[in-house]
Amino acid sequence: MSQSNNMNPLDHVEFRRQGHMIIDFLADYYKNINNYPVLSQVNPGNLQKKLPECAPLLPESIETILNDINKDIIPGITHWQSPNFFAYFASSGSTASFLGEMVINGFNVVGFNWLSSPASTELEMVVMDWLSKLLQLPRSLSFSGSGGGVLLGTTCEAFICTLLAAKEKMLDQIGREKTDKLVVYCSDQTHVGLQKAAKIVGIKQENVRQVLTAKSTNYKLSPERLDEVIKKDIEVGLIPLYLCATVGTTSTTTMLLTIFDEKLISINNISYGKSGITETIEDLMNNLAP
Ligand SMILES: Cc1ncc(COP(=O)(O)O)c(C=O)c1O
Repeated sequence: MSQSNNMNPLDHVEFRRQGHMIIDFLADYYKNINNYPVLSQVNPGNLQKKLPECAPLLPESIETILNDINKDIIPGITHWQSPNFFAYFASSGSTASFLGEMVINGFNVVGFNWLSSPASTELEMVVMDWLSKLLQLPRSLSFSGSGGGVLLGTTCEAFICTLLAAKEKMLDQIGREKTDKLVVYCSDQTHVGLQKAAKIVGIKQENVRQVLTAKSTNYKLSPERLDEVIKKDIEVGLIPLYLCATVGTTSTTTMLLTIFDEKLISINNISYGKSGITETIEDLMNNLAP
């Protein structure tokens, strides 16, 4: 493998040249994506055998790296963007999202707080308010009201953040000693990440209710069943905290959005599964529109 001594971390001439090469490389990948077997054909441990045990001492040329990617990485890829891929989240990428990610990485901004990059903070606020309007959420939940949201990297992060926020708000009202009484609701179709998140934030595992769904109702969360479960909990002194609604469940892509029960102080999380954002918005508009 050839070694390059060019250690300049950001030489704009090289950045342009190599950036163009990467775009060409990816454009060719998409042009030829039909030719790959959708499922990777390699055996476990394939890459460990091919790569050196230690990181290279010196950087390598982009040509060498692209060659290595072709030779060693592509065979180990399951091609999620292939038009022949029908599992999990099929064809979730788009030119707009790839280019947007490039711009984000290009600026490499760290948005700790407003001062660390005002445009980053403010763009997030504007976009969250757009989403809030598209989802027809109450104005009080948006920045233009008294609320506001954040963009998170994964659904599980959202599970944890929203569960914690709900828990803190509730315990402020009912007293910190009542943590063991808090109950979280989801359906038997909800991603297991919710149970893990509940564990992390200190909700008792026996207080996570997976409301049963049925094929006859397309595995939707039934408001009646949910109501029964909530009533039973209230009767024995437990306190409903959180309902996880899902748009596009992992196994059947069902919309789990049903009722927003006023007994639940915090209805916090909508977990987006298979639906891309466009589909999500369309479906939500159809499902939620009065
Ligand atoms: C409906 C649903 N919710 C949550 C998750 C968890 O997502 P993440 O791994 O991004 O946290 C998934 C992942 O498959 C999912 O399908």
